[in-house]
Amino acid sequence: MSVTVTVLGSAQAVGEALALQVVTALRAKPDVVLGLASGRTPVDGYAELRRLHAEGKADFSRASTFNLDEFVGVDAHHSGSFRQFMERYLFEGVNLDPARIHFLNGAAADPDAECERYEQAIRRAGGIDVQILGIGSNGHIGFNEPGEDLKVRAHRVTLAESTRRDNAALFGGDPARVPNEALSMGIGTILLARRIVLVATGAKKADCIRAALNGHLTTRVPASLLQVHRDVEFLLDSAAASLIDRP
Ligand code: GLP
Repeated sequence: MSVTVTVLGSAQAVGEALALQVVTALRAKPDVVLGLASGRTPVDGYAELRRLHAEGKADFSRASTFNLDEFVGVDAHHSGSFRQFMERYLFEGVNLDPARIHFLNGAAADPDAECERYEQAIRRAGGIDVQILGIGSNGHIGFNEPGEDLKVRAHRVTLAESTRRDNAALFGGDPARVPNEALSMGIGTILLARRIVLVATGAKKADCIRAALNGHLTTRVPASLLQVHRDVEFLLDSAAASLIDRP
């Protein structure tokens, strides 16, 4: 088991470190399978990846991607979808083959079958090499919300009120317009990734980062389960790291 914590001076530096991790993975394995996260935190890293690609320093032509989650009832063209978010912040600026970009379809008629299809697609791709994660202020990863139990594989989930508030910007700033449900990779899907890089910035994340790194393993803090992973790195700015126990 090995969790590495890297504390950097700014959110910008966290973004650059995240991009470096991806570029290193691409160079080591051009057909790398990346697990991608939406949310504001990785956006600086995605901007840096677009910049590096424009400079000829990041070639995604053989890479595959699997995003963590999507809102239920929202198709790939909906302006609030995570798919559109990723188009805007990453896909439009790099040379990924559209056939190798994978997403859960939030508008699927049969969400359970859609989740099973997604799990199979990840398996067929050989599993995820590097999974990028953000963290919800309540400790969620993907859309695995705190609760009595956690699901192993991709599943349909009811979103917490705090999560709907946190995602309101995608739906015109109105939490009531954020869908009640989402499809998400499960905790087992995430933990099967060979390497995991979690990014968190800002004082709002200090409590959940402390609970994830220094607390007990608990379904009440889904990110705490990452402590059992063999190769996980937390990239934090000093505000997000401000409450963790220093070795
Ligand atoms: C959403 C996503 C998560 C993400 C979280 C944090 O809930 N489903 O994968 O980690 O947002 O978002 P932010 O980075 O904007 O704080």
